[in-house]
Amino acid sequence: MNIVTSPEQMQATALALRRAGQPIGLVPTMGFLHAGHLSLVKLARQAVPPSASPTGKSTVVLSIFVNPIQFGPNEDFNQYPRNFDRDCRLCEQEGVDIIFHPSVESMCLQDPAVFVEETALSKGLCGCLRPGHFRGVLTVVAKFFNLIQPQVAVFGEKDAQQVRLIQQMVRDLNFPIRIIFGPIVREPDGLAMSSRNTYLSTAERRDALCLVQSLQLARSLYRQGERDAGKIISAMTQKIRDIPSAAIDYIEVVDDATLQPVQTLNGAVLIALAVRIGKTRLIDNLMLPDDHLCQIPD
Ligand code: PAF
Repeated sequence: MNIVTSPEQMQATALALRRAGQPIGLVPTMGFLHAGHLSLVKLARQAVPPSASPTGKSTVVLSIFVNPIQFGPNEDFNQYPRNFDRDCRLCEQEGVDIIFHPSVESMCLQDPAVFVEETALSKGLCGCLRPGHFRGVLTVVAKFFNLIQPQVAVFGEKDAQQVRLIQQMVRDLNFPIRIIFGPIVREPDGLAMSSRNTYLSTAERRDALCLVQSLQLARSLYRQGERDAGKIISAMTQKIRDIPSAAIDYIEVVDDATLQPVQTLNGAVLIALAVRIGKTRLIDNLMLPDDHLCQIPD
């Protein structure tokens, strides 16, 4: 496994691999890896199988970069958990070929003037409460696409809005890259894995289950035939309000393609929520009727 820190060296390596006919799969992360990230590595390898390449080889690149431009001024950029040595061990075990781990200075110019801004899907959900967040995400992901030259990039469905925005960017800006959605990976009790779970105290960790439990409730109401978004949102709200440490940022039922709120659950919808447990902001979601990417336990 190679560790590359220089963007120039990453791009030169990627271009040489592509010239040699070797496909590249990319898993972009902010590090502090967990089983969710490692499941994306498996999907990346399956998507660029060595056997299907003319050279009999493929390359999986995992990037680790805590991207300052996607954090707001009062957010957790400085506290965001980091453990590069552990990440390296996990990547080695998982068969990652290259870790791309650039410095902030090498990725963020002193005087940047060009950003990628999406103007529709980014308006609601997290985009509404975290102004500039998705501009920061899309800008850094576009830079990774240019530096790493992947044919395939894999993103987790837990960040449902993010992965839909990236797909939109790829479509609108003609990146020749296939985006794969990785299913949410959960702890045995149902909590969606997140690097931010490490912030939770023991009591908060227990309280954090209210996110998945409210989605379970939404799904069971849906299965009983409830199609009124307002009723589903109010049942979820009630469930979360029972937990004193929980504060709701949003609970929304949106059309899965447009991310616009719906009043009636017809066709493919996404139920997404962001909840603060103490100081930790967590997100989770459920797609209906096809919920296979969300892996909510029964
Ligand atoms: O999902 C993340 O970890 C980040 O938003 C990403 C896609 C790596 C961009 O910094």
